[in-house]
Amino acid sequence: MRKKVTKAIFPVAGLGTRFLPATKSIPKEILTLVDRPLIQYAIDEAREAGITEFIFVTSRGKSALEDYFDHNPQLEQELRKKGKEDLLSTLKTTNMDSGAIAYIRQHKPMGLGHAVWCARRLIANEPFAVILPDDVISGDTPCLKQMVDAYAETGGNMVAAMEVPREKTSSYGVLDIAEENGPLVSVKGMVEKPKAEDSPSNLAVIGRYILTPNVLRNLNKQKSGSGGEIQLTDAISVEAQAGQNVYGYRFNGQRFDCGSKVGFLQATVAFALERDDLRDDLAAYLSEVSGYDKAAQ
Ligand code: G1P
Repeated sequence: MRKKVTKAIFPVAGLGTRFLPATKSIPKEILTLVDRPLIQYAIDEAREAGITEFIFVTSRGKSALEDYFDHNPQLEQELRKKGKEDLLSTLKTTNMDSGAIAYIRQHKPMGLGHAVWCARRLIANEPFAVILPDDVISGDTPCLKQMVDAYAETGGNMVAAMEVPREKTSSYGVLDIAEENGPLVSVKGMVEKPKAEDSPSNLAVIGRYILTPNVLRNLNKQKSGSGGEIQLTDAISVEAQAGQNVYGYRFNGQRFDCGSKVGFLQATVAFALERDDLRDDLAAYLSEVSGYDKAAQ
């Protein structure tokens, strides 16, 4: 029987400079889409995929994240007193069972591969997931759940994959495709942030991974790559080149790049339009402002 994936790493050590000044005192992952922080979307997706152990790789200035997943007895008592059961149940989604969440510090920003490696002792010898909270993915079945289901058949290593315009490959890890089989793509290598002209394809890695502990062993070598950083892409590529199974999974769903302001705004609008309490007023406003836009042209 294949070992189930129950552990997930959330690399959340980044400074979030693109969102300064907000991120001067608030971790980027606490910025909210409508009324839920980015990290809540990532945690909910992980839970729906069967994850029960949550490992955060943090850095200085991220204590708001720890508080977010802690109980707040005073607030809970106040809400209970006022009979606000709906808000109490909303708060419940932020609570973690004792021991289900662990925080590891990445002392220096040395890249995504290094951040994942920092969690190696908590992963030990099991398959594990990695979720990048900047990549928010909406859809009927959460992206990681789709991947866990596919992984139950394939094993190996799997990354979420999505086509991007060729001129954008330099923002992504990109797959060197060996063979396609429906949503599953066998991969013979991966390149981090290649120039369009050097890119092996335009199928990009999106921030969801299911990985074997071998990838952590590859990261032990601490080899730096693109941008002088230790890249997760490179450590996975070593597996592919060694003939181990590495797959891209073309997920169903819409991905928002919440590491960029435009992506963040698009996600905010998309999630707000899904809400019964907000849809009508927001849609009316959007059609009003798009009308202005047309008049100005
Ligand atoms: C990271 C990964 C990259 C991946 C991307 C997806 O890059 O290194 O391979 O394609 O996430 O969002 P970053 O955006 O952190 O520079």
